[in-house]
Formats: sequence, C-alpha cells, structure tokens
Amino acid sequence: MIMNLGIIGCGAIGTDVAKAADKMVEIEKIYLFDIDKKAEMKLCKNIKKGTIKSVEDFLPKVDVVFEAASQKAVNEYAEVILNLGKDLVVMSVGSLFDDKFKEKLEKIAREKKCKIYLPSGAVCGIDGILSASIDVIDEVTLVTTKPPKALGKNFDKRTVVFNGNARDAVKEFPMNINVAASLSLAGVGFDNTHVEIVADPVATRNSHKILAHGKFGRLRAEVENMPNPNNSKSSYMASLSAIATLKRIVNPIQIGA
Ligand SMILES: NC(=O)c1ccc[n+]([C@@H]2O[C@H](COP(=O)([O-])OP(=O)(O)OC[C@H]3O[C@@H](n4cnc5c(N)ncnc54)[C@H](O)[C@@H]3O)[C@@H](O)[C@H]2O)c1
Repeated sequence: MIMNLGIIGCGAIGTDVAKAADKMVEIEKIYLFDIDKKAEMKLCKNIKKGTIKSVEDFLPKVDVVFEAASQKAVNEYAEVILNLGKDLVVMSVGSLFDDKFKEKLEKIAREKKCKIYLPSGAVCGIDGILSASIDVIDEVTLVTTKPPKALGKNFDKRTVVFNGNARDAVKEFPMNINVAASLSLAGVGFDNTHVEIVADPVATRNSHKILAHGKFGRLRAEVENMPNPNNSKSSYMASLSAIATLKRIVNPIQIGA
C-alpha cells in the first residue's frame, strides 16, 4: 500500500513522525503544515519526501492526516478532513473531551467510511483497558506522578494535588488532558475514571500508572517517561506511540486489542 501523508504541526511529535515516515517505503509524499512557518521549513529541510502546503491544498492529495498541533487545530480541521473521506490521527486527544464534538466526528467518519485513530500517547496499558471494557470494569484509576516543579509546586514531601474524576482533573490540570482523555475514552468515560495527581520530590520523571479492576481480573500498568530530546515538555513515548500508529495503518498485521 503506497500512500501520501499530511502532517499538521511540525513540533516535537510532528518532526519525529515525519522523519519516521520519510523512511517508510509505503509512504510516497509527506505534506507539512504549521502556523509557525519556521517550524515547517526546518522540518521540510530535514526530510526527503516533504512539501510545504496549506491543509486545504494538501487534503485532496493525501490518504491520512496526522494532527500533532493543538486542540484548536483539531477543532478547525477534523470535520473537513473526515468529510473528504481521509483518515485522521489525532494526538491532541483532549479535544475529544467535548462529547458532542466527538460524536459529530464519529458520525462523519461512519458516513464517509474513514477512521479516526487515537494513539495511546504518553500512557501505557490502553490495550488492556480496551479489551476489559468489553465486559464490566468496576474501577479505573490513573495515578500521574510528577516532580513538584513540573506541576508548578515546591513541596518537600509527596503531596496528592488532585483526587477526583477525569472530567474535573482536566479542568484543573489541563496539561494532563491527553492521558486522561485516552484512558477515559478507552474505558469507562470521563465521569467514572478516577484520577490522582501527585507531586513527588523523589520523582525525577513524569510517570503514569493505570490501575483497573473488573470481570477480566486486575490490571496494573506503569510507565516512567523520558522527555522528548527535541521538546522537554513532550514525552518521548508520545512520539513513539504516534509512529507505531502510523505503522499500524500501513502494516498488514495489526497487533494489540
Ligand atoms: N496523546 C498524548 O499522550 C500526547 C502527548 C504529548 C503531546 N500531545 C499533544 O500533541 C500535540 C503536539 O505535541 P508536541 O509535543 O509535538 O507539541 P509542540 O509544541 O512541540 O509542537 C506543536 C506544533 O504545532 C504547531 N501548531 C499549533 N497550533 C497549530 C494550528 N492550529 N495549526 C497548525 N499548526 C499548529 C505549533 O506551531 C508547533 O510547531 C499537542 O496538542 C500536545 O498536547 C499528546
């Protein structure tokens, strides 16, 4: 399968995805768009298959669009992308926090027979939660632990800064929105997913732990994330998950739930 890819957002994740796509034989052309013209040009110079174009101009030429920009970009472009029957990969998963917007995109994708891919991003264990949610799940908890500085705090002992549901967590801690959204969408929804955010001076990295209990048994998955070498605010795992999703789209064998 040979295809063309459009990328919206040429930052940390967009750059990693474009560089990986540049090496994939299944991908012929890579169209790049960013509101920051310097970011577009820098990335375009670093890959062989790249062309800079506006989203409107590249859409008729691509098979898949990779969003790695912002929630605003998803709000702006998702409908038009899907209405043209193009598959869409969304990294800014928090944009689907709005149930009505998510349902609208689902409806268009169904009608146009295209897909919306939500990579698991910076969190691990989404495959297990997806499978478990086919039957009853009693509890899903996300424990996010960060060094106090990463949460804008200055504690000298472990402190739980948030304890509540995912819907309230993303309002109080919007930087946690993508992880909470992926987990909630895979499992029991924003209102039933329990979130604990911990500031821990012992922690040197951001970590996410998922604990779940249900008819399937018990699940515990934890990841300690290294920062992306090109953007310390982004977890490297998010880029790896984005690239793995792209491989999933082009590969004949699909592994995982
Ligand atoms: N799902 C996850 O677990 C996960 C993890 C990390 C990041 N993210 C999300 O993925 C997105 C990209 O993350 P990143 O680390 O690459 O960020 P980044 O800041 O390194 O890059 C984002 C790029 O997008 C561009 N951009 C912003 N708004 C745009 C718009 N409306 N149209 C076109 N370009 C636009 C910016 O100029 C920037 O170059 C962010 O929304 C981030 O929240 C998700």
